[in-house]
Amino acid sequence: MMILVTGGAGYIGSHVCLELLNAGNEVVVLDNFCTSSKLSILRVQEISGKPVLVEEGDIRDRAMLERLFQLHNVTAVIHLAGLKSIKESHANPLSYYDCNVNGTMQLLIAMGNAGVKKIVFSSSATVYGSPRSLPLSETHALAPINPYGRTKLFVEQILADLSLANPDWRVGILRYFNPVGAHESGLIGEDPIGSPNNLMPYVAQVAVGRRDHLNIWGNNHPTSDGTGVRDYVHVVDIAAGHVSAINYLDHGQSFEVNLGTGNGFSVLDVVRAFESASGKKIPYIFGPRREGDVSSCYADASAAKKLLGWKAHRDLSAMCLDHWRWQKANPDGYSGRAISE
Ligand code: NAD
Ligand code: UFG
Repeated sequence: MMILVTGGAGYIGSHVCLELLNAGNEVVVLDNFCTSSKLSILRVQEISGKPVLVEEGDIRDRAMLERLFQLHNVTAVIHLAGLKSIKESHANPLSYYDCNVNGTMQLLIAMGNAGVKKIVFSSSATVYGSPRSLPLSETHALAPINPYGRTKLFVEQILADLSLANPDWRVGILRYFNPVGAHESGLIGEDPIGSPNNLMPYVAQVAVGRRDHLNIWGNNHPTSDGTGVRDYVHVVDIAAGHVSAINYLDHGQSFEVNLGTGNGFSVLDVVRAFESASGKKIPYIFGPRREGDVSSCYADASAAKKLLGWKAHRDLSAMCLDHWRWQKANPDGYSGRAISE
């Protein structure tokens, strides 16, 4: 199969491309590189020994999309391109609705015109909002509490309407919990712009000496040690979930599933696991709770197992070891290496 991966140069996208190639697919990446580096694609080619076609462009550019579908014999789309910062989405909601919702609309219209009607979409646990019950199953109410989360929910609804109106459309919605880690080669990984918002990349930058200490947002949550609990899931497991989803859509109906492990770990659990993986001390300071943070969030991961036969295999220790291998080899991310690579 020839799979179009939008956002394929990004953190999750680069791992998805690698898993698709390893499973024998051909891959064309569409990316505008607004939050990513072209080096990630070169590294995917280096690891896999296989070529990746790259189209530089914006998902909002319909004319370019129409040309792309004429040029390549695409059988399915994995749609990861989008903006993902909750903080930025509060400050600049229109750019989030434009990129994530309008961009997806342009993509879907171009797909329909080209007769490509199979899509896997990157959604997020953020669509659930504040958990009313745990673990979070797919039937939990959808009530996001920030503009970013609403863009994800709106796209989910657009996709649901589309597959309802026309059963030719096969839609797989993957709600990721907290993707962390990196490919075991240490060649591709997460490279956030500026100060990381998320826990694991921040901890990794402390370990590698780019930052003095970690600020832990709150030690008075109703959790075992007072710090926030999340369902961390290895990015390679997440990537494998996309291959399962694409394969399932060959014969199965549209679906939405969580991609998580079903286990919750606290911030202090992560700090300890990273210290032991890296052999580095992670100094930390407790600060106030972060606005909009929920205390605990973890998945009921049974639907993905039942429907797709997918489950996460890598534990927190593997997540930290792999994240550390990437960070240690690339202390400044992709920008740290000579471009002559
Ligand atoms: P990322 O920023 O590393 O990757 C996003 C990619 O999309 C980048 O390569 C970027 O250049 C590209 N892109 C953005 N806007 C584009 C546009 N208009 N046209 C073309 N390309 C564009 O982020 P990621 O962590 O790899 O996330 C991938 C997807 O997964 C996103 O849709 C995100 O919302 C979703 N997601 C991520 C997480 C997470 O914690 N990382 C959790 C849940 C869902
Ligand atoms: N945390 C800190 N210090 C930091 C960063 C995070 O203490 O510097 C804490 C948070 O307070 C939280 C936990 O670490 O308790 C995890 O925080 P992250 O920011 O890593 O993850 P979130 O669950 O808050 O959010 C992430 C993505 C969202 C996505 C959500 C669910 O940022 O976009 O996972 O997939 F919606």
